[in-house]
Amino acid sequence: MKDQLLNPQQLQARQQELRQQYEAVSSKKLNLDLTRGKPSTEQLNLSDELDGILKGNYKCQDGSDARNYGGIMGIPEARKLAADYLQTIPARTMVGGNSSLQFMYQLVTSALYQGVRGAASAWSHEAAATGGKVKFLCPAPGYDRHFAICESLDIEMIPVAMNTDGPDMNQVEALLKADPLIKGIWCVPKYANPDGVVYSHNVVARMAQLGRIAGANFRIFWDNAYAEHHLVDNPPELANILALSEAAGTLDNVLVIGSTSKITHAGAGISFIATSEANLVSFADQLNIATIGPDKINQLRHVHFLKDMPTLRALMQRHREILQPKFDVLLNVLETGLGSRTINGKTLGNWTKPQGGYFVLFNTQSGLADAVVKLTAAAGVKLTPAGSTYPYRRDPANTNIRLAPSFPSLPEIEAAMQVFVLCVELATVERELGL
Ligand SMILES: Cc1ncc(COP(=O)(O)O)c(C=O)c1O
Repeated sequence: MKDQLLNPQQLQARQQELRQQYEAVSSKKLNLDLTRGKPSTEQLNLSDELDGILKGNYKCQDGSDARNYGGIMGIPEARKLAADYLQTIPARTMVGGNSSLQFMYQLVTSALYQGVRGAASAWSHEAAATGGKVKFLCPAPGYDRHFAICESLDIEMIPVAMNTDGPDMNQVEALLKADPLIKGIWCVPKYANPDGVVYSHNVVARMAQLGRIAGANFRIFWDNAYAEHHLVDNPPELANILALSEAAGTLDNVLVIGSTSKITHAGAGISFIATSEANLVSFADQLNIATIGPDKINQLRHVHFLKDMPTLRALMQRHREILQPKFDVLLNVLETGLGSRTINGKTLGNWTKPQGGYFVLFNTQSGLADAVVKLTAAAGVKLTPAGSTYPYRRDPANTNIRLAPSFPSLPEIEAAMQVFVLCVELATVERELGL
């Protein structure tokens, strides 16, 4: 069935063949899941030494007791580790609890309601004064939980096209020039979730200039969740937005965020923010109302365990050894099942081959993503809902499907992907037949 122009009878015959295969696979009552980018148990095991690592010694570098209250900025040794990880200095870092997403949510809410520099700078205040609505630029496809933060806070989302080297910066700059109520942009600059894109130097340099267009209260949410999560030997370099912003005089406009969620234990790691000292002071004042300090014992455990960047990178290599075969299986099934296939001259889809991160993005033919996701679900293979990679879950072309192979075992990925490939062809053939 390669590369053929099928007449209607042939297409019909193929559809019946595929339907039979589909019924057969559905009767197996599979229960497979390629939805969320969770580390596997084997990956989590790599960091089990964390448990008990302090051996009763809770003293921090500055003499403080990690068991007690306080330390809103994080303990000094964790700030040093975060600074090395995010390529800045400790004074420009804050270290928090187990979730960088929570940091992002808090950063957005505090800027929205309390202001980045006092009440007068609150985004909601500015919107009320002008009768408009606070908005965010959302390079799409993007991370569904970023979009969920905006949606839950009634921040209007404006999708921005993603190119192979990052967001379309002409579009970003033009939108910012036209609307002073655009107060933020979501970026996953390295191995982006979901399309694996690494922003080029040119894109990062233009990002560093955005504060000059958008004004003092605008913030770039630079979610560098996959900074060290490589799947190749010579990983691409990401330009240092903090250094470029400092040179441009826009350091206040950038919030770099990261965590150890996919380095140690996903639910029990530590998270980081890197930005200007003034931003940290302002945010810490607000955070201090919600908490008397983060879990410093966990910060100390992480410093003892991760030690420094060479140790952290060696651990990431071990993650890669577990993850890479999973991506290989996923990509092999796609290549074998769909690689050179066309139906009536049209390919059945295309997909990314990421150099790092946790995802493969598959694009069906236009208009078929939700049909494929429904078919696979009914056959016992759960995929992230179609549309979730776009603001308001509206994928205009209905083509994106995010595949996450990190959690299931190799045989499970193989089985799930066989079903996926079958469903892609079935949905395509049935549409071709007008069914
Ligand atoms: C881009 C991105 N940011 C943040 C997160 C969540 O990070 P954390 O566990 O630190 O909250 C994820 C998890 O998948 C992610 O893909």
